[in-house]
Amino acid sequence: MKRVAILLSGGGSNMVALAESMTGDHPARPCLVLSNDAGAGGLAKARARGIATAAVDHRAFGGNRSAFEDELMKPLLEAGADIVCLAGFMRVLTDGFVSRWQGRMLNIHPSLLPKYKGLHTHLRALEAGDSEHGCTVHEVTARLDDGPILGQARVPVLEGDTPEGLAARVLVQEHRLYPAVLRRFAEGDRRMLRLD
Ligand code: GRF
Repeated sequence: MKRVAILLSGGGSNMVALAESMTGDHPARPCLVLSNDAGAGGLAKARARGIATAAVDHRAFGGNRSAFEDELMKPLLEAGADIVCLAGFMRVLTDGFVSRWQGRMLNIHPSLLPKYKGLHTHLRALEAGDSEHGCTVHEVTARLDDGPILGQARVPVLEGDTPEGLAARVLVQEHRLYPAVLRRFAEGDRRMLRLD
């Protein structure tokens, strides 16, 4: 049984989708929900589900990323995590941390990578006049939003869409895509998954 740690900074809707998918004959179970913000809403959702939680406040390390990450590693090792899922984790991780989880760390990004790496993806897709948009699950490497793509889900861009409305449409697909990719990943299947 693979042990999955989920890192988040916000509300944790992707964490909930992942946690709720890991039941029955699924080859993985959540072992920890970890945040850089002790007040993150996702931590309360994890506790409500009986999942162990921890928080390491990055602000306590005054910009020293590697010191923050050294602390971040401790609950991950204590929980015996085999796989790390970034799910709305809003801190950039250094090469050092990423290399320790290389091949075992996933992220979900709200765009059809390689388009729109970074932030404000929905606004950028609207400003570009794209007819479709979506989300991507990829392996995390040292370059931001750049690792091997494991899955994508598409949504249409509709007339009059706002960034918020488009984000909400994409989020529904994130909650389908991430659990589907994690299950395959936990079974050792790295084939690209397309959800339409
Ligand atoms: C999602 O939009 C996801 O694509 C991005 O951050 C957001 C996380 O939302 N990585 P939640 O905290 O999972 O609800």
